[in-house]
Amino acid sequence: MTAETSDAADAARNLTPVLGRYFERTWSHGEGHRLFDSDGRAYLDFANGIAVTALGHVHPRVTAAIHAQVDRLVGPINAIGFTAPISELAEALAATFPAPLDSVMFLNSGSEAIDGALKLARRVTGRPGIIAFRGGFHGRTFGAASVTTSNLNYRTGYEPLLPAVYFAPYPTAYPEFGGDSEAASAASSAILRSLLETVIAPSQVGSILIEPVLGEGGYVPAPASFLQDLRALCDEHGILLIADEVQSGYGRTGAMWAFEHSGIVPDVVCVAKAIANGLPLSAIVSSRAVQEKWGRGAHGSTFGGNPVACAAGLAVLDTIRDEGLIANAAARGAELVSGLGRIAAEDDRIGDIRGLGLMVGVEFEDAALPDRLMAACADAGLLVLTCGRQHEVVRWIPPLDVDAAEISEAVEIFGETLASIPRA
Ligand SMILES: Cc1ncc(COP(=O)(O)O)c(C=O)c1O
Repeated sequence: MTAETSDAADAARNLTPVLGRYFERTWSHGEGHRLFDSDGRAYLDFANGIAVTALGHVHPRVTAAIHAQVDRLVGPINAIGFTAPISELAEALAATFPAPLDSVMFLNSGSEAIDGALKLARRVTGRPGIIAFRGGFHGRTFGAASVTTSNLNYRTGYEPLLPAVYFAPYPTAYPEFGGDSEAASAASSAILRSLLETVIAPSQVGSILIEPVLGEGGYVPAPASFLQDLRALCDEHGILLIADEVQSGYGRTGAMWAFEHSGIVPDVVCVAKAIANGLPLSAIVSSRAVQEKWGRGAHGSTFGGNPVACAAGLAVLDTIRDEGLIANAAARGAELVSGLGRIAAEDDRIGDIRGLGLMVGVEFEDAALPDRLMAACADAGLLVLTCGRQHEVVRWIPPLDVDAAEISEAVEIFGETLASIPRA
């Protein structure tokens, strides 16, 4: 998509052509909030491996924790007992959730957490039905792909996917409802309720799965009223509400978990990406009662909860707490949105700016523009990514410990780069 670094073609030679990539560049190393390419050029990294390195690259505290654990115990331990970093991270992670969410199953990736949560819901409720939302992205494994509709390419050629999956519209306010999120919420709730009256009986539905902020589908926060309505519906019918916080979690939205903005408590939460600042780790979190009903041996993983990843995870949680990074995400996010607002006031190609904390989407009227803008921003030394079905959105995923000067630098590069692209 953008200018290749000199050795990108060599780097790709024996790698699968299947993996999609935003940039054809080769990266040498990261330092804090900068990523360096193989020509030694630094880029302000507001992509973070898609919301993974939320504390930036090679964070000293996380790196020290990894080094210390590597010298003690590396191999997986799940099947044969317990070890400190795994139990300690379970305790520390559980403490970030409201009651009754206190039990953690560690796995390796977001997709695995979603697959596991869907299995949990089936076994625990004894009901086959799953309701998910249009535009959602939950991963690439068969279960996760079955509930994913952010792009047809994730499903094409893989049918038949999981049966008994039904989709309702995500409450997207722009452009459909001219930005009126309450109108979007009411309309989506009405369609969901009619689905339950005409297509699948609530007694057959085991889970409703939602991203509290739509991620790959366009960085759209679900209105609080919508999540509250889902909670009420699930309570009424004994359905498990699963929150996919893989992208929206870990302080990104200015709360530890995005669902907190609406005051609801889901039954099951899927966590991944930022949990170990780059090492593979994910988790399914629910009440103990729910996981006891799921049953011993009902699910598991060889590598899930690797001690090194868990040691990194502990350092991540300690850093978020000690440095007040959730409040930082809220404050820096507000600065980002106001800086972007100033650009939008001068440029009507921007249709909508929305988000929570440091999870901010900028939607363009012309869906062809964002990919071009992303490439030009990279050329100018700023990494931001696109999302949305047609890549109509530029998403901002700065690190949680970003400072005000870096937000200003990024907004300035973005504004100048956009201004340099002629109107179609
Ligand atoms: C909301 C959400 N759920 C699930 C996933 C899948 O996670 P993974 O790629 O770790 O399998 C992603 C990945 O982007 C995601 O954004």
